[in-house]
Amino acid sequence: MCPFVVIEGIDGSGKGTQARLLEEKLIDLGKDVLLTREPTKGPTGRIIREHLKDPFLDDEALALLFAADRIEHLEKEVRPAIGSGKFVISDRYVYSSIAYQGQKVDMEWVGDINKYADRPDLAILLDLDPKISERRVNDRGEDLEYFEEDRSFQEDVRRSFQKISRGLNQPDHLKTEWLVVDASLGVSEVRDRIWDRISSLL
Ligand code: TYD
Repeated sequence: MCPFVVIEGIDGSGKGTQARLLEEKLIDLGKDVLLTREPTKGPTGRIIREHLKDPFLDDEALALLFAADRIEHLEKEVRPAIGSGKFVISDRYVYSSIAYQGQKVDMEWVGDINKYADRPDLAILLDLDPKISERRVNDRGEDLEYFEEDRSFQEDVRRSFQKISRGLNQPDHLKTEWLVVDASLGVSEVRDRIWDRISSLL
């Protein structure tokens, strides 16, 4: 079996770092791996990133674009990789749409427009207090995207991810196994906790 694993969390929770560490470990073991992310680098993902820098879309349109980007992602990258025997790790997936877009538009509708999204084998939530993530995001020294600027929004997103990881607020076809890791623990402890679980999938 070729697992499809997704990593979720608020901005600055360390998803990118942990996704890379997991990729390295799997490659060391001789596995074929696709590390990918949403929003993608494809045409829809590029529009989304433009919007995140300097907003011009309304909330429903943004939710539809994330769903469209995801369909392209699944069709062009994720499914072919799984089909060719790769271990797929996605840095963000449909649960980000429920947690982020679900703050602004009807959450059930967000589930509906993601009807064609595949269920991953495992979702990992890097759970972190936005007070900590805010420091990390600022330390990157990059211009902030507009979701990153708003701590109370990040607090709502965190609560939403926590609920999703308990099986709430999502359509049945997206319900999956969750591993929730306290992301304040430090890079190597978080890495080890993730590895404990991933090794059971191999
Ligand atoms: P992020 O993973 O933070 O990318 P980067 O680190 O390159 O900026 O994703 C960008 C933003 O997009 C982030 O604030 C979360 C948001 N997002 C959604 O609102 N909905 C979604 O479905 C996805 C995939 C991301």
